[in-house]
Amino acid sequence: MYNVFPLAARLRNQSMKTEGGSETAKRNAGERAAEEVTDGSVVGLGTGSTAAYAIEAIGRAVDDGLDVRGIPTSFQSRQLALEVGIPLTSLDAVDGVDLAIDGADQVRDDPSPNAETDANATAANSNGGGTLIKGGGGAHAREKLVAAAADRYLVVADPSKLIPELDRSVPVEILPAAHTTVAERVRELGGEPTLRDAEHKDGPVVTDNGNLVLDVAFGPIDSPAELATTLASIPGVVEHGLFIGLADATYVGTDDGVEKRTY
Ligand code: A5P
Repeated sequence: MYNVFPLAARLRNQSMKTEGGSETAKRNAGERAAEEVTDGSVVGLGTGSTAAYAIEAIGRAVDDGLDVRGIPTSFQSRQLALEVGIPLTSLDAVDGVDLAIDGADQVRDDPSPNAETDANATAANSNGGGTLIKGGGGAHAREKLVAAAADRYLVVADPSKLIPELDRSVPVEILPAAHTTVAERVRELGGEPTLRDAEHKDGPVVTDNGNLVLDVAFGPIDSPAELATTLASIPGVVEHGLFIGLADATYVGTDDGVEKRTY
């Protein structure tokens, strides 16, 4: 098989990504989370440069005899998993997913245990942590499918992703026929939509699912759970990048080690 994503040539399309984390921090987070993978398990394989370190670490563990099956969340994570030798399966071929490991574009990280004011947030996130924005790489639809199916969902991030209040644009995957109607609806909600442009193709980004992506700027999001419910109800929206109540822990890599937040 030809080498679609050589390990050395990591993500090129970083334009909607949160910049700032060091490769060492990402590596520490990814490799630490990969240690949670146990023999015989089914593992969700997230997308992006941080999750890639976890996938590579799982591949090395497979070389050493670990028995796992991976469920990729994107073309990119599938190709990387094949390259490092992780046996693959799919959601419809397994009884469940034991663990999923994935990156994020922003992670709400409120140090105050009583700071949660979002009435729709789940008890699991009552400390305000673990609420995410994902989809900088346009893979959030499959990422959310796998995250929701997993018994445990571990987020891997560097400190540049942590923020007290989510404020970056929310990626919204939409049916191509719906880009004007969804754009109009999100404007009514106070958002400013931008159709995501491809970098090495004329025209828009087309997702792994054949859809388009609107990046919707809402400014600071004080009620992410409420916004998530509203976005999901718009006809033509396939999936949005707000992940509410899914994360069990975030492994925050630094240049010196890893801090773990549990929810
Ligand atoms: C993919 O669409 C995203 O949800 C990624 O998981 C997210 O962008 C994190 O990627 P990095 O680890 O490359 O920042």
